[in-house]
Amino acid sequence: MSVEGKIIDVIFNGVYLLKVGKRKVLATKNLTPGITIYNEKLIVCDGAEYRSWNPFRSKLAGAILKGLKFFPVKEGDQILYLGAATGTTASHISDIVGKEGGIYCIEISERCIRELVHVCVARRNMYPILADARRPEMYMHLVPEVDGIYCDVAQPEQAEIIVRNAQVFLKDGGYMFFAIKARSIDVTAKPSKIFKREMKILEKGGFKIKQKIHLAPYDKDHAMVVGVYKG
Ligand SMILES: C[S@@+](CC[C@H](N)C(=O)[O-])C[C@H]1O[C@@H](n2cnc3c(N)ncnc32)[C@H](O)[C@@H]1O
Repeated sequence: MSVEGKIIDVIFNGVYLLKVGKRKVLATKNLTPGITIYNEKLIVCDGAEYRSWNPFRSKLAGAILKGLKFFPVKEGDQILYLGAATGTTASHISDIVGKEGGIYCIEISERCIRELVHVCVARRNMYPILADARRPEMYMHLVPEVDGIYCDVAQPEQAEIIVRNAQVFLKDGGYMFFAIKARSIDVTAKPSKIFKREMKILEKGGFKIKQKIHLAPYDKDHAMVVGVYKG
């Protein structure tokens, strides 16, 4: 069941702020009208259907609502998504890149990939790949050169994982989104050492960092780091 709403702002390409009753809701335009992925609300504005994008369920939504300024994702982009889980965030990126885009969803957990496959059957621009993101050579025959990498694998060596994947798949000038433990980004806390180390690895690996954002109150544990690749 859907509710009526009104577009009040276009925050980025394909990312909308809607008014639903008295509430403001972040949303993307539904690529597969009538189908929901995680019980999100469907909202109809001027005859088109949108999916509410929950910042408590998706770190990217949280980052946008916390003031993300760098969001280069556009229609037609090819994206390598490391740690896709059951496809919550990937499905919203799928709405944004549209039919001509592609999201190559790497996920190590068989339980998650079983659910993800259902999402990918409905969304023809998402491709599920059961693999370990630490080993890009295992899926290099399945993934083309990409415009961006999204990494949320919750692993200690995430920066190395992004760099290794960027060397194989990311085009020069491509972008990355990197979800990292928030305590490592907070300079007043000890784990800031981890953050410094991760940033060094990214910079040495060819990335220029554009912005870092704490995701609290949506996600107390994480921050989002965004950057571009110089190769
Ligand atoms: C925090 S969840 C991702 C949530 C997802 N990004 C979203 O917003 O919808 C992290 C995921 O990374 C996966 N993962 C952990 N290590 C991995 C690895 N080495 N390769 C691929 N996936 C991995 C986990 O199985 C888990 O599903």
